[in-house]
Amino acid sequence: MAERRLRLGVAGLGRAASSMLPSLAAHPHVDIVAAADQLPLARARFEADFGGRTWESAEALAGDPGIDAIYVATPHQCHVSDVVAAAAHGKHVLVEKPMALSVEECAAMTDAARASGIALVVGHTHAFDPVVRTMRDVIASGELGALRMIVNVAYTDFLYRPRRPEELDSARGGGIMYNQVPHQIEIVRALDGGPLRSVRAASGVWDRNRPTEGAMTALLEFASGVAASLTYSGYDHFDSDELAFWIAESGADKSPAHGAARRALGARSAGDEARMKAESAFAGRGVRLAETPAHQPHFGMLIASCERGDLRPSADGVLVYGDDGVREIPLPRGRTFPNKDGVIDELYDAVVRGIAPLHDAAWGTATVAAALALVQSARERREIMLEGADVR
Ligand SMILES: NC(=O)c1ccc[n+]([C@@H]2O[C@H](COP(=O)([O-])OP(=O)(O)OC[C@H]3O[C@@H](n4cnc5c(N)ncnc54)[C@H](O)[C@@H]3O)[C@@H](O)[C@H]2O)c1
Repeated sequence: MAERRLRLGVAGLGRAASSMLPSLAAHPHVDIVAAADQLPLARARFEADFGGRTWESAEALAGDPGIDAIYVATPHQCHVSDVVAAAAHGKHVLVEKPMALSVEECAAMTDAARASGIALVVGHTHAFDPVVRTMRDVIASGELGALRMIVNVAYTDFLYRPRRPEELDSARGGGIMYNQVPHQIEIVRALDGGPLRSVRAASGVWDRNRPTEGAMTALLEFASGVAASLTYSGYDHFDSDELAFWIAESGADKSPAHGAARRALGARSAGDEARMKAESAFAGRGVRLAETPAHQPHFGMLIASCERGDLRPSADGVLVYGDDGVREIPLPRGRTFPNKDGVIDELYDAVVRGIAPLHDAAWGTATVAAALALVQSARERREIMLEGADVR
C-alpha cells in the first residue's frame, strides 16, 4: 500500500525556513503545499518556487483546510500563539527551537496539543545530528563504560549576523541564551538521556552596540552525576570550526573568514539590518534544493568522556578513542544539504505511523527550563537547582 502523504504548510519564511526547506522537500512522503509570511516578497517567492498557496499570517495558514501539519518557523515570541492556533485547527506541528520564551508558554502549547490530539515535535537542534545520535548509541551500548563528562565549545559569528531588533534585546528572547545555547543543552541532554540536576552559568554582553548576551560558559550537572561544560561565544573572533576540521555547522566545507560577519554588517540602522536579514534569507535568495552534504553537520567541538574512552564527531562520522586505540564509525550522508532530515522524519513518523516523538513538548519544555535557569544563574551568580522542574 502506498505510504500516506503529509501536506505541510510553512509558517515564517525566514532564515530557519531556508535551511529546513531542503529536508522538508526531500522527504519522500511530504508535500509542501502552503506557507505564511508577513512579507509580500517572501510569499511571492514561495508561490514561484513551490507553487503553493500563501497566507499573510500563521493563524490564517492554520485555517487552511488543505494541510495536515505546520512547520512553525516564526520568531520565538510568536511560537505560542502560532502553535495554539495550529492545534485549534487540528494541525500537527513541528515548532522551531526554542519552543517558547517561558515554561508557562510551553504549558499552554502542551495543553493545546493534548486537547486537540495533534503531534507536537520541537526542533531543529543539533541534538538531531547523526553524529550526536551515534555518540548516544555508543554510550548507551555500555562499550566504553559509564558516561562521566561532556564538553561542548562553540565560537561563531552569531552576534554579527543581521538581526531583527528583538534578537538584540534579551528581555524579548534576544542573544545566544534562547537561540544558540538550546543547541548545546539539547546535545548534552541527548547524550546523557536523563534529567538535569543543576546549572551554574556566567554570561557576557561585550559589545554595547549589540546589547544582548553574546558569550556564556556554564557547568550543567545531570541527575546521573554526569557533568557537562558548555562554552559559547558569538563575537566573531576565534571560530571553533577550526577544531572541527574546518567544516561548517551545516556540514559544508568552510574557508576561514575571521571577522567577516562583523565587517559585512558594518554600522546600520535597525531597519536596514532587519531588511538585510530578510534579503539574506528565503525572501531574497530562495533555497537550493537537492544538494548533498559534503560532511556531517555538527555544533562546535564536542567530546563525551566515558570511563573507558572518549567520543567525538569526525568530519564524516564519529571517532571512538578507546583503551586499544582509535576507530571511526562512518555515517551515511543525509538526503540533502543541510541535513535536518531527522526532524521531518520524527514529525512524519508521529503523524502517520503513530510513533511517539523523542523531541516532544516535554523535551522542548525541559530545554526552555534549562535555558531560563542558565539566564537566572548568570544574573544571580549562583547555582540553580532544576530537580523536579525537568519533565523527562
Ligand atoms: N534550528 C535552527 O538551526 C534555526 C536557525 C535559524 C532560526 N531558528 C529559529 O527559527 C525562528 C525564526 O528565526 P529566523 O532567524 O528564521 O527569523 P527570520 O526573521 O529570518 O524569519 C521569520 C519570518 O517569519 C515572518 N513572520 C513573523 N511573524 C509572522 C507571523 N505572525 N505570521 C507569518 N509570518 C511571520 C517574518 O516576516 C520572517 O520572514 C526562531 O525561533 C529561531 O530560533 C532555528
